[in-house]
Amino acid sequence: MQEFRGKVAVVTGAGSGIGRGLALRWAAEGMRVAMIDIDDAALQETAGLMAAASPDAPQLARRGDVSHAFDVEAFADDVFDLWGQVDLLCNNAGVFLGGYLWDRHVEDLEHILGVNLWGILHGIRAFVPRMIAQDTEGHIVNTASVSGIFGSPLAGPYNISKFAAFAATETLAGDLVLSGSKLRASVLCPGIVSTNIATRALHRPEETGRPLTDDQRFVTEMLIDLVPTGLDPAEVAGIVLDGVRAEDFLILTHGHHAESITSRAAELTTRALPSVVAYTCPVRGPSPLQGGVAGGNTRIVAPPIAVHRG
Ligand SMILES: NC(=O)c1ccc[n+]([C@@H]2O[C@H](COP(=O)([O-])OP(=O)(O)OC[C@H]3O[C@@H](n4cnc5c(N)ncnc54)[C@H](O)[C@@H]3O)[C@@H](O)[C@H]2O)c1
Repeated sequence: MQEFRGKVAVVTGAGSGIGRGLALRWAAEGMRVAMIDIDDAALQETAGLMAAASPDAPQLARRGDVSHAFDVEAFADDVFDLWGQVDLLCNNAGVFLGGYLWDRHVEDLEHILGVNLWGILHGIRAFVPRMIAQDTEGHIVNTASVSGIFGSPLAGPYNISKFAAFAATETLAGDLVLSGSKLRASVLCPGIVSTNIATRALHRPEETGRPLTDDQRFVTEMLIDLVPTGLDPAEVAGIVLDGVRAEDFLILTHGHHAESITSRAAELTTRALPSVVAYTCPVRGPSPLQGGVAGGNTRIVAPPIAVHRG
């Protein structure tokens, strides 16, 4: 996709973090921007920032839950009714949930797959058929994570949802090419970005009434320490813009992750358990998760193992 001015962008999870960064960038590029978020106050804040920074950019903001097909379909209907087209779809809304996989509550697993995987599938089903029918150039960007490429310990629910998001996007991109569509698709795999994702995960017990387990608290608090060291969402938005222009399938935010992909592939060919990726930007130092698991080089400080049955 080369032309952005006057086109229509859709961003899910636009109330905060990367979604807000993308929405503000698309408006600055002269696009009309439709936004959805489950957090209406946060969404209104983004809308206000957009009105201030890009006063001429038409915008539509809807509260909705991307894990509910009905909300996403109603949102898509609103966007097509208002503007008659969608050119850039960013399925971005996501949540973090970690902890030992064997100790996770079914409700938590359903929650994270509902947002991080079903949110993307609902977005694809609600928007892509009409985008294909437009028969114009366009692009879909699904936000996965480096956790969609590397399966780090203590983040099983998140990793599963992000590997699935990656698979959905790779398949979508192939299907679009195979079917002769003018649309292209990219998977955004950020490393650490300075957003509210970890803080929101810490507040999950307020929704479930179940306290975080020790292992969950350990990984969530580690993420809370790491996240402020991450990239600015505005910088990520610029990287996404470049990736969409270049029609890159894989959009990485940290260059060293490309080397980690090579290492992972090499390790897998030896049938070994792949080493754990360093999450952080190299200029700011390695993350506590850096180091090998299989090679006896692990530097993970494991939390006390506690068994919680919800
Ligand atoms: N921050 C990072 O380091 C990082 C790294 C890799 C990938 N990601 C991914 O980036 C995406 C954006 O996350 P972020 O870091 O900006 O976090 P964030 O918490 O700052 O923003 C996420 C937004 O999504 C919204 N949201 C959550 N559940 C929703 C739902 N069910 N329906 C609609 N909106 C919902 C939240 O209200 C919030 O506004 C996520 O998919 C996340 O997994 C983030």
